Amino acid sequence: MRERIVSGMRPTGKLHLGHYLGVIQNWVELQHKYDSFFFVADWHALTTKYDKTENLKNDVIDVAIDWLASGIDPEISTIYVQSLVPEIAELNVYLGMVTPQNWVERDPTLKDMAKILRTKEGQNSQISYGLMGYPVLMSADIMMMNATHVPVGIDQVAHIEITRDIARRFNNVYKEEFFNEPQPILNHCSLICGLDGNKMGKSFQNDIKISDAEEVTAKKIMTAITDRSRLRKTDLGHPDECEVAFKYWQIFGSEDQIAQIRMECEKGERGCADCKRQLGALINEKFAPIREKRRYYETHIDEVKDILNDGSKRARAEAQKVLTHVRELVNMY
Ligand code: TRP
Repeated sequence: MRERIVSGMRPTGKLHLGHYLGVIQNWVELQHKYDSFFFVADWHALTTKYDKTENLKNDVIDVAIDWLASGIDPEISTIYVQSLVPEIAELNVYLGMVTPQNWVERDPTLKDMAKILRTKEGQNSQISYGLMGYPVLMSADIMMMNATHVPVGIDQVAHIEITRDIARRFNNVYKEEFFNEPQPILNHCSLICGLDGNKMGKSFQNDIKISDAEEVTAKKIMTAITDRSRLRKTDLGHPDECEVAFKYWQIFGSEDQIAQIRMECEKGERGCADCKRQLGALINEKFAPIREKRRYYETHIDEVKDILNDGSKRARAEAQKVLTHVRELVNMY
């Protein structure tokens, strides 16, 4: 049997270039090698935003559109919505029973989230039971398809460790090597920083969206930090100390383009504004086909919904096979 991957993303609305370079691009490659399942994690959104669900449905669609536009192919991969596969919630119950409480308590991501929740003004400072159970729910997402591999960023590796522990424990308790102990596949591509040099993120307002119009992208790029010691165009530049713009060149440019920019900057022949104008044009060129595809799906939302419904049906069929066996193992009626 072909090896199988499962991965998910929270429905945070329109995705940015950090998502594209860090996650989606990898999925697009991996889908040709693995039996692939990608889902929008709408239950996970509830772990922190259970009281702000007005835009949830739209956010799910927006994420799906960005995936489709970026090249996740619904003919090759199964694209689905977590909550449309209710079997995951049932598996979550069984896994919760075999998981010692201190395994979830020591989850580092959970600790960080709790800290953020506490410092956010107006947020309920309590960690809900649901948020506490998030590592178990994520294990259920993965084990529901009995995945062998999970493509994730380095920040998620601790969760995959817990999943492996839970899978091993379940197998031990019910005396059958049923669940795989899934391996992380680490994203190998470059991390892109935000326009201000910090981590790119929606809430920091330093991001460029996949869906941004060309004019918006060009304008945003003009705000990117450059070499702070360089005041005039004729000052000799230091590309390696350029905080954002040159880093973007290194991600998007060809080797020749990068060498050219480096040379002109170091000789004081090209100013930062000019450099960023060119950079904006380059990024717009790279994303033009994706954006065009995006516009198609934006005007064919019913098609997107059909893709999600079909994918969820397919995912459910897989989930039911796994769940039937789990119920037998646990001795449910
Ligand atoms: N926790 C992941 C994130 O915050 C999203 C996620 C939920 C996920 N379930 C998953 C990723 C299962 C991979 C596999 O980004």
